[in-house]
Amino acid sequence: MQQKAPVITKEEIAAGVFLVGVKSPQITMHAQPGQFLHVRVGQGPEPLLRRPLSIFQVDRKRGVLSLLFRVAGKGTNLLSRRRLGEDLDLVGPLGQGFDVPSGTRTALIVAGGLGVAPLFFLAQDLVRRGISIHFLMGARCQDQLLCRDQLQALSSHLQVSTDDGSDGFPGLVTQLLEEFLRRENLDSGSTLICSAGPEAMLAKVASLACQFGIPGQISMERNMACGLGACLGCVVLCRSRERVQTYRRVCVDGPVFRLEEVVFGE
Ligand SMILES: Cc1cc2nc3c(=O)[nH]c(=O)nc-3n(C[C@H](O)[C@H](O)[C@H](O)COP(=O)(O)OP(=O)(O)OC[C@H]3O[C@@H](n4cnc5c(N)ncnc54)[C@H](O)[C@@H]3O)c2cc1C
Ligand code: FES
Repeated sequence: MQQKAPVITKEEIAAGVFLVGVKSPQITMHAQPGQFLHVRVGQGPEPLLRRPLSIFQVDRKRGVLSLLFRVAGKGTNLLSRRRLGEDLDLVGPLGQGFDVPSGTRTALIVAGGLGVAPLFFLAQDLVRRGISIHFLMGARCQDQLLCRDQLQALSSHLQVSTDDGSDGFPGLVTQLLEEFLRRENLDSGSTLICSAGPEAMLAKVASLACQFGIPGQISMERNMACGLGACLGCVVLCRSRERVQTYRRVCVDGPVFRLEEVVFGE
């Protein structure tokens, strides 16, 4: 659905990272964790293409949803300058979100940097469903550990890592994940890894999940044009269950894929 939704809150929560709340009862009602919105960032014809942003959080009672984004270029810079009360032109919710199998008792959520954007809504949803969550969040340094207070309020099992050692585990979040998997004897039948972040990180998460025999799902990113499955501008190389390689579209087949489905580094 296409909707005009007014900006009702806006905060720069870290340098160049914005949390924007918009009022859209309809999108909020239908949104599922892991889905995204295609956002017209400017008010005029430029830029032509919408920008994909994950649905960070929804408040169905108030009909409000939030977007968490880093200023990465022209489009997100324009978006960061939109004012309270202005309407955002949104298309969504789009794509396939996380599909948590019934029987899942524990979710291991692994976020790298802005990867927290599609995972916070998931964590909220899992807590509501009574599924135990362990949230591992990594960032380059302490002030890039985003939305930590909200995550702490959601789960007592939050562990953080920083590349520069300024907070939490000193090192990569995937090293933290590896330690966690070695320490905890997780039941592969009732545990699910859910992850989002830089692609190199996701590749490592996939290899650890395979090594420890835990199923998982990851949220992938590609530059997008149509966002509707028509232009093939957003494909990732995947393999089917029969191990046949094929391209799949992030906008309609994803953005969330099974870990073993994605072919990394080719
Ligand atoms: C399904 C999906 C969900 C996303 N959710 C979020 C989110 O919640 N928060 C957030 O901050 N970002 C998110 N992104 C990434 C976001 O869409 C891009 O950062 C944004 O489109 C950049 O637009 P721009 O005009 O500011 O920058 P551009 O000028 O278009 O690009 C700036 C730089 O970012 C690179 N870039 C642009 N788009 C992508 C992309 N999709 N993947 C990797 N690199 C890219 C460009 O190659 C360039 O180097 C998501 C992407 C996808 C596909
Ligand atoms: S953006 Fe056009 S097919 Fe995905």
